[in-house]
Amino acid sequence: MGKIEPQPGIMDIALYQGGASHVPGLSEVIKLSSNENPFGPSPKAIEAVRAAAGSMHRYPSTDHAALRAAIGEVHGLDPERIICGVGSDEIIHFLCQSYAGPGDEVIYTEHGFSMYKISARAAGATPVVAPEHDRRVDVAAVLAACTARTRLVFITNPGNPTSTMLSADELGQLADGVPETALLVIDSAYAEFAAGYDGGAALATARDNVVMLRTFSKAYGLGGMRVGWGYSQRGIIDVLNRIRGPFNLSLPALKAAEAAVHDRAFVDSYIAENARLRVWLADRLADLGVPSDPAQANFILARFADAAEAEACDAFLQSRGLIVRRVNGYNLPAALRITIGDEAACRKVAEAVAAFKGADR
Ligand SMILES: Cc1ncc(COP(=O)(O)O)c(C=O)c1O
Repeated sequence: MGKIEPQPGIMDIALYQGGASHVPGLSEVIKLSSNENPFGPSPKAIEAVRAAAGSMHRYPSTDHAALRAAIGEVHGLDPERIICGVGSDEIIHFLCQSYAGPGDEVIYTEHGFSMYKISARAAGATPVVAPEHDRRVDVAAVLAACTARTRLVFITNPGNPTSTMLSADELGQLADGVPETALLVIDSAYAEFAAGYDGGAALATARDNVVMLRTFSKAYGLGGMRVGWGYSQRGIIDVLNRIRGPFNLSLPALKAAEAAVHDRAFVDSYIAENARLRVWLADRLADLGVPSDPAQANFILARFADAAEAEACDAFLQSRGLIVRRVNGYNLPAALRITIGDEAACRKVAEAVAAFKGADR
């Protein structure tokens, strides 16, 4: 490229690996690799998108006031402290771009979501990994990894791909313990699936150094629409809004999210079904010698004897049209992350693992 060079860090980025959605040679597959809602979006969101179609020649709202008001109403939060993004991915990006640069450090945990590292590098900052303990975030290890250069500390809660979580007390310890120059970011993409968890909302309300991230991609079934949001003190939201593109969210995306957040019956019924099937599947697999930690999200992390067995089971599941997620990139080579599908999908996974283990004979 001669003298035309990208900014430092960018060529160190390993491209994000999304969940697979095809198996060569199979036309019918069940995709359990991206933690999507198996029941699709709310019918009210579909209707809202249809209704918006005739207005697609108009620019969408730039301040997202109606969506922020809807989120604020449902969650009991001040809409002025909310920012909406193209998925929570975009807000992760805004945070890194706004608060971390060359010489600064961005902490995430051993099995934490991969976008933190990508966005930290994109900003020219240095990603720093804190070890986890038995697939759970280790508060002491995170605090020990902090230095005077730490600017952001990302915690996925519940964890992806671990499905484990920290308590409100532990999150409070992190907020108390991070350096004064650092923001604690609680990425609660799966908060809805964890009974009794507010996603870190109370902590982010009370503390100036906490950001909560949420998404419409999981519980609300709007992954294809790309809508996420962040909640923090007004000063932080003001900073992030300065680098946000004025029309980052499309009109259909805004309308879909507004309708979805108001359809409580739809999301509550998915959450209840997920909680039921998550225990059912985990118990079945445990009986087959495939344990998992008590899961708090819409997936389980199934553990095998070693990486070779996980790889062989993955191939066997694929041969039956079941696509789950290898998590080698998250330092979990002996595990498979399995999204909780509908009941038929969960039964198929249990039957396939039984056949793989030779327990069906
Ligand atoms: C922990 C976590 N955070 C953030 C995201 C990004 O979600 P989105 O950009 O779809 O809102 C995901 C998606 O898989 C995730 O698992």
